[in-house]
Amino acid sequence: MKLFLDSANFEEIREVASWGVLDGVTTNPSLCSKETVSFEDNIRKICALCPGPISAECVSLKAGEIVAEARGLAGIAPNIAVKIPVGLEGLKATSILRGEGVAVNMTLVFSTGQALLAAKAGARFVSPFIGRLDDVSEDGMALIEEIVQVFENYHLGTEVIVASVRHPRHVIEAALIGADIATVPYGVMEKLVKHPLTDIGVERFLADWRKVKK
Ligand code: E4P
Repeated sequence: MKLFLDSANFEEIREVASWGVLDGVTTNPSLCSKETVSFEDNIRKICALCPGPISAECVSLKAGEIVAEARGLAGIAPNIAVKIPVGLEGLKATSILRGEGVAVNMTLVFSTGQALLAAKAGARFVSPFIGRLDDVSEDGMALIEEIVQVFENYHLGTEVIVASVRHPRHVIEAALIGADIATVPYGVMEKLVKHPLTDIGVERFLADWRKVKK
C-alpha cells in the first residue's frame, strides 16, 4: 500500500520523506490555512521534494471555473494531482480534464455511488473520508470495502485513497482490505512506528550492554 502524508507542512513532509516511506502528499484548504508561506510557493517546494503525486485543491464551484483553476494548479509542477470535490460540476470538470491528462483526485467522497461516478468520469484517485463518517456513527471502513470491491469487479483503474485517517488501526484495516493508498496525518504516521515494547526492549538492551565486558 502506498502511504501519502496528509499535510501542507514542509518540515513534516521533509521529515517523513527522510524515513524512506513517503509516496505522495495530500493538502486541502484547511491544512494550507495553517501555513505561513504563500500557497503556491509551498506547493512548488513540496512538489520538488516529493516525486509522488501532490494533491492541491480547487475551490471553484462551476465546471468551467474548476477546469480553469485546475489547469493553473496542474501548471505548478508535473506531479500535481488536482483535488476536486465530488458533485455534478466536479464530474463535468473531471471528464474535461481527463482528456488533457490532468490527474484528478476526487475528494469529499462519502458514498460508493460517488466513487463509481468519479471513476467513470476519469478521476485518477478517489478520496473517501472515513474518519468523518466514523464521527457521525457511520462505518467508514465499510465504505472502503465497498469501493474497493466495485473497482475490482469492473477493473476500474482509479486508485482509492483512504482519507480522514484518525489512528494507526485505520491504516492497517485499509491495508487488509487492499486499498491502494492511505493518506495519513503526521501524528498517526509517528504512531505507526512506535511501540512501548520496542522502547522497553531498547532500554533493556542498552542497560545490559553497559554490563558486557569490553
Ligand atoms: C484528504 O485528502 C483530506 O485532506 C483529509 O484526509 C481530511 O481529513 P480530516 O477529516 O481529518 O480533515
